Amino acid sequence: MYLAVLGREPELSNAELESLFGKITHLTNNLSLFDSKTTPDINRLGGSLKLAEKLSEKPLEFLSKIEDGKITIGISDYSKGASKKSATLEAMKLKKILTRHGRSVRVVLGDDAVLSTATSLHNGLSGKNPKKIELIKVDNDYYKVIGVQDIDAYSRRDQGRPARDAKVGMLPPKLAQILINLCGALKPGSIILDPFCGTGVLLQEALLMGYFAYGTDISERMIEYSERNLKWLLQDNRKSAFETVLRRREQEERSAARNDGPAQARRESTFLLSQGNATDHKWSKLDAVACEGYLGKPMSKIPSDIELKEQKQECSSIILGFLKNLAPQIVKNTPIVIAAPAWLRENGEYSRLEILDQIENMGYNVENKSREGLFYHREGQIVARDIIILRKV
Ligand SMILES: C[S@@+](CC[C@H](N)C(=O)[O-])C[C@H]1O[C@@H](n2cnc3c(N)ncnc32)[C@H](O)[C@@H]1O
Repeated sequence: MYLAVLGREPELSNAELESLFGKITHLTNNLSLFDSKTTPDINRLGGSLKLAEKLSEKPLEFLSKIEDGKITIGISDYSKGASKKSATLEAMKLKKILTRHGRSVRVVLGDDAVLSTATSLHNGLSGKNPKKIELIKVDNDYYKVIGVQDIDAYSRRDQGRPARDAKVGMLPPKLAQILINLCGALKPGSIILDPFCGTGVLLQEALLMGYFAYGTDISERMIEYSERNLKWLLQDNRKSAFETVLRRREQEERSAARNDGPAQARRESTFLLSQGNATDHKWSKLDAVACEGYLGKPMSKIPSDIELKEQKQECSSIILGFLKNLAPQIVKNTPIVIAAPAWLRENGEYSRLEILDQIENMGYNVENKSREGLFYHREGQIVARDIIILRKV
């Protein structure tokens, strides 16, 4: 049983987990439980901040079994009514007993009942070092952290990219991973299409996750940008954190390919880019589509009703035109995940594109139609992303 500490959009994080692992149990607003046959990898889950495994024994028993040498421990207390004080007391109690038994113990304390991602990461409590342990307490249950989101690696590949364009919008790499994962559990080497690839953020994440990145965009300049960014990501820089992740993906891919037969083995983790209008382009083979669609004009203030109508019309016609063009080119059950725009209104609600019925009439099933919208937005942003999950019927 695994525990996920969810990110700032818990609904989106839960949808990501559900799409990969099936049924999940909502423990609290920001904690979910799920089962997985293989150990889940935090580096692939944009929506989870930490992953932990349930302890089958009491924390003291577990800590006493750690090999000789100094131990570092941190406690995140998610129990009802927990405080910084309760977490500190718990950690100090464990330290006291272990010290009495001759162990040298350092306790990492946070500013709150729970340790922030940065505190865990920067104190080495990310599950990699068996002597540096973070325990998550939820009432009477304890979990051992096995992975912490590498916020530094995300910002390196976000801000370090050579080709950036503020006007095209900045799809956060974490959200790009979520969009890919919402396609479901895909085989290594699957071909992921982003038909609005822009500067290639989603394609970068697809590559790092061991998929074949296929990008098209109406703008030749954007294709050049994507190419520069993907080459930068793949360049042979031994010190690069991405390279390490990439090598691991390739290893996984090779071992999976051995089980999947020769067709899978022939595919390499690489990319293909070409200029094309999503409403009439012909793509070669693809296994899944994940993209941030055209989001309309960048906005710094709430649009008037007339402006909103114009923007909605333009964005709807591009997305609908794309889906109409795509339908005959893909096989049944191909997953398609689109981040569509939704605009902030004076009442604080988001106004969404009204296109779901038309999408269904084109031969798609909108998988999240019955749910409230799956939104990704940040404080002060006028244009939010409204995530639509489809499958060809
Ligand atoms: C919001 S941006 C996507 C940004 C992208 N996720 C990134 O990582 O930079 C939308 C992109 O859609 C492209 N676009 C607009 N209309 C298009 C169309 N009809 N066909 C293909 N691309 C289009 C734009 O050139 C732009 O790059």
